[in-house]
Amino acid sequence: MSYANLTYDVADRIATITVNRPDKLNALNDATIAELGLAIDAAVADPAVGAVILTGAGRAFVAGADISELASQTPLIAQRRARAGQAVFRRFETSPKPTIAAVNGFALGGGCELAMSCHVRIASEKAKFGQPEAKLGIVPGFGGSQRLPRLVGRGAALKLLLTGDMIDAVEAHRLGLADEVVPVDALTERTRALATTMLVNGPLALAGCIDAVQRGLDTSLEEGCRIESDLFGVLSATADMREGMQAFLEKRPATFTGR
Ligand code: COA
Repeated sequence: MSYANLTYDVADRIATITVNRPDKLNALNDATIAELGLAIDAAVADPAVGAVILTGAGRAFVAGADISELASQTPLIAQRRARAGQAVFRRFETSPKPTIAAVNGFALGGGCELAMSCHVRIASEKAKFGQPEAKLGIVPGFGGSQRLPRLVGRGAALKLLLTGDMIDAVEAHRLGLADEVVPVDALTERTRALATTMLVNGPLALAGCIDAVQRGLDTSLEEGCRIESDLFGVLSATADMREGMQAFLEKRPATFTGR
């Protein structure tokens, strides 16, 4: 599969999706969003892939939806565009394989929303985050008004949404929007190291953790605990559980097969 607006590479069981429109600061036009959907589907379907890193080419992660496309949208096209983007971003969020955003620069609007749809966000010291949609006379369209308060709380989310201000990586980290801040030159290495640490663990367990957190966040504590206990039960039927516990008892590293 070749992409016009992305690059897609797999090495050491890690798929790296790089949004590649650097002259437009990787702004997400409709075509790029569609390709992101194809790329995450390819990564999820590929048994040789265990984790996904999402990043941007050049000085931006993603500087938002492509304003040149938004500028002429009608209400129905805008609604369809938002829903199509939301569906693609949701695939990053519900991927059974960990998705990690390596935020190398501007993560604004749709870029911040895309990063928030990943399971973990590692920011370089040069990263900048923000939801500037109100400056354009719109609200976020790709889930930002929903994921931001879930990540940083209502007050901090509304402050960012209502001002449209950009914040730096350190402030994003303080708010819980970025999970780590690393020097620019260390971003790739640190993100890959994090993915590699996850890949040592059982793939069914990784999928189960993601599923429990995602579904649990959308429901009551009681229902979330039921989801967890069901997954706990199901995983106890797997060869991976037997291998993980046997390896511990035999004081050796586990070899998981995802069965
Ligand atoms: N949509 C379309 N094009 C965009 C874009 C976007 N969201 N963000 C940047 N670009 C384009 C610029 O138009 C410019 O293209 P040009 O060289 O053909 O004129 C190019 O990317 C470089 O951007 P520029 O504004 O010149 O860089 P800068 O360093 O001066 O400013 C930003 C960087 C990120 C502060 C600025 O580009 C910006 O505010 N972008 C829009 C952010 C936004 O509102 N996102 C939410 C959209 S809903």
